[in-house]
Amino acid sequence: MRKTSQRPPGFEYRSERPLLAKSARSRASTLDELFCEQTSLHRLAERFGTPLYVYSAGIIRERVSDFQNAFRGTDCNICYSVKANSNISILRLLVKLGCGFDVVSGGELQRVLRAKRTAAADVVFSGVGKTIPEIEAALKADILLFNVESASELETLATCAARLKRRARIAFRVNPDVPADTHPYISTGLHKHKFGVPIGEARELYARAASLRCLQIAGISVHIGSQITDFAPFGIAMERVAELVRQLRKDGHAIEYVDAGGGLGIDYRAHSSSDAELNFSSVVMEYARSILTPLRKLDIKLLLEPGRSIIGPAGVLLTRVLYRKTNGDKKFVIVDAAMNDLIRPSLYQAEHQIVPVKAGNDDPEVLDIVGPVCESGDFFARGRELPHVEEGDLLAILDAGAYGMALASNYNSRPRPAEVLVNGKSAKVIRRRETISDLLMPEL
Ligand code: LLP
Repeated sequence: MRKTSQRPPGFEYRSERPLLAKSARSRASTLDELFCEQTSLHRLAERFGTPLYVYSAGIIRERVSDFQNAFRGTDCNICYSVKANSNISILRLLVKLGCGFDVVSGGELQRVLRAKRTAAADVVFSGVGKTIPEIEAALKADILLFNVESASELETLATCAARLKRRARIAFRVNPDVPADTHPYISTGLHKHKFGVPIGEARELYARAASLRCLQIAGISVHIGSQITDFAPFGIAMERVAELVRQLRKDGHAIEYVDAGGGLGIDYRAHSSSDAELNFSSVVMEYARSILTPLRKLDIKLLLEPGRSIIGPAGVLLTRVLYRKTNGDKKFVIVDAAMNDLIRPSLYQAEHQIVPVKAGNDDPEVLDIVGPVCESGDFFARGRELPHVEEGDLLAILDAGAYGMALASNYNSRPRPAEVLVNGKSAKVIRRRETISDLLMPEL
């Protein structure tokens, strides 16, 4: 049996006609196709077109519950990082599962409020460049926590809060100067990065915050980067934060919250049940240990901001093969999705697994899987081994739920894909496909 057939329950190969599968095994294997829960991806593509993002509600539920189990027994709230995938229906599902949210813009806050009017009570607001209108919107919504990232932002926040006669609960996002082994674009915890305030200057800043009328010191936050799979840096950052909690409490500040940020990585290469994907519950347990051990006995409320680890493996990007072509001895498969739909391979050299929706038995070929955009950087995979596919066949780009649609653009005037949320046998369009008219609308 193909390795890919052992992917987690959300996306697995099945035979569409189990009876036939029993009586004619060899033929049946050619009928094996990739499903999302009990829904055929092939049928979704026919119904809604391609490129198409498909998400599994089941995987999202499972991953949130794995997080909740790993942190059971501690006062902990998961503030899902909206930037990873901000579709309002996904946010609604996460509200139902008990999540709060980490937002980084006024737009993300609006999305959260659209998902649930009262959700602001569990919202933390991070970001190095909060504008006055964004700060005011968050003050009016009475969010849980502002993660302040500079001395200047602190002053602006205090002025806005005084003007609106509101009280802002704040944490400083401290930069712990801890390297995380990840792509340089998504590492954030070193002094050379723009994020947070140097941990060594924190006491001074907290003292200043305490002197400002409309601010209430509530916690400390930290985020060292994304797609981190070695957990040691989380532990080191937390030790530094724990030490700061003790110092600040001695200084007389009421530190109630520690926001440990996001960053838990996923295994983009995972394709069998023995790989990390199915072992997510044990991975998240190990992550929990690295975060919780340094915080022992501190009696704090913990906030977490996972994005990718909740939604990444819950989504695929479905795309259809438009053309096959060879340039010299190089083989290309040109698909109807492009870097504007999923930029991760072009931007971070990310290697997403790509599998045919109808499992074939043909010998694999080595080729480049590319999109129609006019840049050589528009590729999903280079020199990749793929079972033989023909023009018109469907491919699924796996683990595309996080930072896929969220980073999609209209480059080359390409309308963005539709998004579908699958729940068992049912599939719901949660964002319709854009049209060319949508694209032209704002232009006069
Ligand atoms: N909290 C803060 C303050 C963040 O900056 C981020 C991600 C998160 C939480 C969520 O991190 P996660 O759990 O998803 O790793 N576009 C890149 C990732 C950028 C991450 C930015 N910040 C990618 O596609 O890999």
